[in-house]
Amino acid sequence: MERLQKIIANSGYCSRRKAESLIAQGKVSVNGKQVTDLGVKVSPNDSIVVEGRALKQTEKEYILLYKPRGIITSTKDEKGRKTVVDLIQTNKRLYPVGRLDYDTSGLLLLTNDGNLTNLLIHPRHEIQKVYIAKIDQLVDPSLIKKLMQGVVIDGVKVKADRVKIKKMDKKKKTTIVELVIHDGKYHQVKKMFAAIGYTVAGLKREKFAFLDLSGLTAGEYRHLTTKEVKTLYSLIK
Ligand code: URA
Repeated sequence: MERLQKIIANSGYCSRRKAESLIAQGKVSVNGKQVTDLGVKVSPNDSIVVEGRALKQTEKEYILLYKPRGIITSTKDEKGRKTVVDLIQTNKRLYPVGRLDYDTSGLLLLTNDGNLTNLLIHPRHEIQKVYIAKIDQLVDPSLIKKLMQGVVIDGVKVKADRVKIKKMDKKKKTTIVELVIHDGKYHQVKKMFAAIGYTVAGLKREKFAFLDLSGLTAGEYRHLTTKEVKTLYSLIK
């Protein structure tokens, strides 16, 4: 559900301010009834008529992308570098749900459903994300425990929901760690490891809520099913 003036503006019919003025002038109806109240919220299924013409609401699109490394999570880049949006063939304006660093690969959602985006990125909703971090050192398991007890990054204490050493290669001196977090601060995983004295050499997001990367290779994407979108909405408390 979104405010009527926002839906009208999002359809490209006019600006939000103009939409407010049209509503106030009684030039808008919802499901056959004239609406002059600016607080009214409508859903994508409501039929909206503006100045006698049926409004075509922009269809929502939901993409699950396997972001490769070396691509920026943005809709455009002032240096002309490739962005995640350049990887998607669509005629809609899609926005990433949160962000992954330039050198991070993995699961990234993109959509034009701003409502869902705002809900999913809000830490209150505690959407779990699973990361795989590669550390070019042998990691001390007792330090890993600290990530669950909580470490301070940028003056705020953050905890991992789960941490597990997946593999330790004594010869190559590398460790693969799986880390589950539910908030999404800037460079959070890298900063959490930095807080216990390690540098993340490689990072991949394997899961976002119940969604994973199965069937995709880096650079590929798929549309979410209606059921998956509904399930994402249902996760919001
Ligand atoms: N944490 C990071 O440090 N980087 C990412 O890209 C995602 C989470």
